[in-house]
Amino acid sequence: MELKLITPHYCKLGFADVDRMLRIEEQVYTHPWSRGNFADSLSSGYEAYGFRNVELDLFAYFVVMPILDELHLLNFAVDLSYQGQGYAKLLMGKLFAYTNEQAYSSILLEVRRSNVRAISVYEGAGFAAIGVRKGYYPAHDNQREDAIVMRRTR
Ligand SMILES: CC(C)(COP(=O)(O)OP(=O)(O)OC[C@H]1O[C@@H](n2cnc3c(N)ncnc32)[C@H](O)[C@@H]1OP(=O)(O)O)[C@@H](O)C(=O)NCCC(=O)NCCS
Repeated sequence: MELKLITPHYCKLGFADVDRMLRIEEQVYTHPWSRGNFADSLSSGYEAYGFRNVELDLFAYFVVMPILDELHLLNFAVDLSYQGQGYAKLLMGKLFAYTNEQAYSSILLEVRRSNVRAISVYEGAGFAAIGVRKGYYPAHDNQREDAIVMRRTR
């Protein structure tokens, strides 16, 4: 897979990045995070990191919440126009570096059962399914969708 000819700037994100994250959310998720979800996460001290392009425009990010020695991946997204070019893999590498630096023992995440693309990215990065949360996510027409719980140990 070829990367676009830009070198992303990897950086820590904060409240000033929420507007841009919201625009990406609305492009890529059927049930995007709200401004309140981002604000609550950052106010709680959860950390967000991402990639900016040469114009310093944010185009990919993740949000993590520590639970004891485990890191919970709450959000992971790539702007639609940057998808399919290897940036998820690149950002996952940054997440693993962060996990190692902070000495977390493992990373845990939930993903919609229907999100085969994300599941394939996570499997490729060494995550394995460890369980199912029935009806965890809201879905269309007042339905619910299962979450696959995945973990990767360091
Ligand atoms: C999931 C997501 C982060 C992947 O980002 P991306 O930048 O397109 O991913 P990459 O380009 O790094 O591709 C990673 C792998 O996924 C594979 N892939 C790409 N499209 C795919 C598809 N439609 N189905 C299955 N696998 C796919 C690629 O082949 C690549 O693997 P390879 O390099 O071994 O070929 C992105 O699609 C996204 O932001 N989706 C919406 C948000 C989301 O669902 N996040 C996860 C929430 S739990």
